[in-house]
Order: sequence, then structure tokens, then C-alpha cells
Amino acid sequence: MSFKTIFALTALVVAAYAAPSTNNAACSKGRTAKHATCCKWFDVLDDIQENLFDGGECGEEAHESLRLTFHDAIGFSFSHPLTGGGGADGSIMAHSEIETKFAANNGVDDVIEQQRPLAIKHGVSFGDFIQFAGAVGVSNCLGGPRLQFLAGRANFSLPAPDKTVPEPQDPINQIFARMGDAGFSPNEVADLLASHSVAAQDHVDPSVHGSPFDSTPSDFDAQFFVETLLKGISTTGSGPAVGEALSPLPGELRLQSDFVIARDPRTACEWQSFVTDQSSMVKKFEKVMSKLAVLGHIPALLTDCSEVIPVPKPAASNIAHIPAGKTLKDIEASCKVKPFPTIPVLPGPISSIPPVPPS
Ligand code: HEM
Ligand SMILES: *[C@@H]1O[C@H](CO)[C@@H](O)[C@H](O)[C@H]1NC(C)=O
Repeated sequence: MSFKTIFALTALVVAAYAAPSTNNAACSKGRTAKHATCCKWFDVLDDIQENLFDGGECGEEAHESLRLTFHDAIGFSFSHPLTGGGGADGSIMAHSEIETKFAANNGVDDVIEQQRPLAIKHGVSFGDFIQFAGAVGVSNCLGGPRLQFLAGRANFSLPAPDKTVPEPQDPINQIFARMGDAGFSPNEVADLLASHSVAAQDHVDPSVHGSPFDSTPSDFDAQFFVETLLKGISTTGSGPAVGEALSPLPGELRLQSDFVIARDPRTACEWQSFVTDQSSMVKKFEKVMSKLAVLGHIPALLTDCSEVIPVPKPAASNIAHIPAGKTLKDIEASCKVKPFPTIPVLPGPISSIPPVPPS
């Protein structure tokens, strides 16, 4: 065979593989998938939408499931590859008796206990289930991302060591160093914190159960990136708690880490950029989550079942607003190279942000 023939044959083979593959596998309820192994995830989807997310809501369980993807995966270290944890390996569920005792994991036990029987029922690994549930949960949020979902993580894990998950009161250089040791730049930390746009706290200050981090905790919008830059005026709940910063709005709780990362020169411009560009916020979150979800794994050895993740409803607006009762003057603009953009200011008096209802 001549070199030319080999080249032509190779090109053919490559073309055949690159051709858009049809969905060959028939799954339940008339759905199809490229890979037959993805079919079971449609059944997991139906089950968790109904029995974990209250019929497809972006409520407390969706928020907790998204948080859990992080707390499982970040148990990973490039500097201590053998002892730093196995990444997105399900260890937080398999060894919950150990990992839920770590201070930073306060509160994750609830959603672990809700998820575990579902993972066992469907015979999927804990590592896969945690990443899948987080991706489905956040797809329920208005304007949410459609996260990549790769399946096939082994069901084996060792407990992650303590101190891999950052805490809101940690010094900022310690937070960036820890995240850097898992492969994330400061700007990627800012990207990951889009997650706090669909979030609330129960354990920083337990006296205000469900106090959200922005005024729209069911929308994956950019409000979080505006509201964290407003001047803080008072604490929410029973006085200053560890890891809490002054909040601009009654009922809203601000984490110390979010306060600092919004203003740090390493992240302030990335942070501000999302205020007028929710779609960039989503794209960057999708990208950085595709890294987080496979920490400790070789992605090429997993199967792409992303097609099972629902397509979220679009956001109400690509541009965030200043909440009622505040003006542009209340913004602590922190990006040195670009002024804070002019955005709509909602009319009316300042209002209290209601808690996320428990379900
Ligand atoms: C600098 C790093 C981070 C710190 C210090 C931090 C800290 C916290 C804290 C203290 C809470 C409140 C928990 C409670 O009291 O119930 C929280 C909630 C949450 N976090 Fe983070 N977080 C960080 C990064 C992330 C990342 C990377 C994600 C996901 C990709 C994430 C997702 C969430 C979600 C969704 C909630 C809300 C949970 C709920 O509403 O029940 N966080 N975070
Ligand atoms: C995964 O391991 C846990 C124990 O950590 C077990 O309960 C579960 O059934 C296992 N799942 C699979 C699919 O093997």
C-alpha cells in the first residue's frame, strides 16, 4: 500500500468516526441515546425530577445537589495526588460517616441521605450519581446551564482528607491556593461561584434558615454578581456569624468569601463582567464545571451522556439590575480597568428577601 492510499484510508476512517452519529439506542418512553449505556440515566432523570426535585423545581434539593458536586469533587490535589482525595469519586457519600464530620461539609448530610437510596436503586456509582443529580438540579433553574455529564466513574473511593473544601472565613490566599491545587485559577473560582446565584445558607447562621445569597435563588441569573458588590449595611439573622459579611438587603446573607472574591484584584473584573452578560456567565460555568465533574478521572474513558440532561428555560434577562431601594452609588466597583456598567435600577422601596422554603 502506498503512502497515499494509507493516507486516503485514514481520512476515510476519521471521516466515518467524525460523521454525526445517529441515536441508535432505544431508551424508555420513546427516548433515544447515542450509547445504550446512557439509557438508564433517563430513568434516573425521571425518578429524581419526581422524587428529589419535587417535580422539576430549582428549590432546596436542587441547590443542595449542586453544592454536593463541589464538595465531592474538590477532594483532589495535584500536589498530593496519592493522599489528597480521589476527586469526583462519590467518596462523600460512600464515606459520609467520615466526610460529613468535616466543618466545611456542614449540612451536606441531608441531600446525601436523600440521594443514596436512589443511586443504589438504579445501580449507578455514587460518583456518577452526585454529578448527574447536580447537573439535573441546576437545569431546573431559570436560565440554568446545561452541564456536560460523563458517566462511568468507578464505585470505588477512599475517604477524602479534611480541609479540601474551602470555608467562607478562610483567608483569600488560602482559598485560591486550595482551588489552585485542584486546578482552578482565581478567575475560574469566580466562574464556579455562579453557583451561588441559586443558593442559600442554613448553617452559617442557623437562625435564618434558607436565607439566600441573592434576591433570585431559583434563577441562574447574574443578580448574585451585582448584589455581592453592593455596600453591606447589616448582618442577617442573629448578629455576625463566622464566615458572614455585612449584607446589603434584609433577608439576604452574604458570605465573607463572596464579599472578598467580588473585590479582589485577581477576580473583580471577571466578577463584574457577568453583570451585563448572563450568557457568558453560563458558558464559563459550563466550561469550569466540565473540569470539576471529572477531577480524578480520565474523561476519555467515560461515556458522554450529556444528551440526558434537560435543556433549561432561558433567563428572563441577560442583564442584571440594581435591586429596589438601591442605586448605582451603592455599588463598590472593584474592577480597576473598567467602570461598573450602567444597568437598570428597579423602582420602589428596599424589600426583604424571603427565605428559600424548606421542602
Ligand atoms: C470559595 C469557595 C466556596 C465557599 C467558601 C463556599 C461556601 C458555601 C457556604 C458556607 C454555603 C452555605 C451552606 C449552608 O450553610 O447551608 C454554600 C452554599 C452553596 N454553595 Fe458554596 N462555596 C464555595 C464554592 C462553591 C462551588 C464551587 C459550588 C458549586 C459549583 C458551590 C455551590 C453552592 C450551592 C449551590 C450552595 C447552596 C446550598 C443550598 O442552598 O442548600 N459553592 N457555599
Ligand atoms: C457502591 O458502593 C456502595 C458502598 O459504598 C454500595 O452500597 C452500592 O450498592 C454500590 N453501588 C454499585 C452500583 O455497586
